[in-house]
Amino acid sequence: MRRVKRIIFLLLVITFVGIQFIEVERTNPPVTADINAPTEIKTIFRTSCYDCHSNETVWPWYSKIAPVSWLVSNDVKDGRKHLNFSEWEKLYSEKRAKLKKEIWDEVNKDEMPLDIYTYLHPSAKLEMIQKDMIKKWATND
Ligand code: HEC
Repeated sequence: MRRVKRIIFLLLVITFVGIQFIEVERTNPPVTADINAPTEIKTIFRTSCYDCHSNETVWPWYSKIAPVSWLVSNDVKDGRKHLNFSEWEKLYSEKRAKLKKEIWDEVNKDEMPLDIYTYLHPSAKLEMIQKDMIKKWATND
């Protein structure tokens, strides 16, 4: 029995070390058209959204360790695909208007920022007043 346990433990260690060699995408492409919004709005987005929705992701140490790295990399890839503040000004105004609506929708429903993110980055949690500011920005013009 002890032998089996030892073998299983060894296999787990080997697997853990092995998966560290699987390559994970962790790039920050150049910022080409950063969003042009009032400073206070930008500050909110920078603090609460930019890690997944911009090309200025800060990759923490645990984002470099598999299997967490797979989750983080996936969230960033998926997040950028839906909304990328670093390329915002390149979008057609119709697309921007649509995204603004979606942003307020997500924030209003507390869907964004993702819970797993605010758990690790408590300062990214949106206060009522910040949500109000986003609402004003997103529903104007
Ligand atoms: C931890 C990463 C992460 C953070 C932080 C984050 N998002 Fe997201 N966001 C995602 C991912 C992943 C998706 C795509 C999958 C989904 O819709 O859940 C997404 C999708 C979206 C979408 C598109 C929704 C749709 O229906 O297509 C909007 C809008 C959005 N996020 C806004 C925000 C805003 C605004 C913030 C900051 C207040 C934010 N997100 C913070 C990861 C994140």
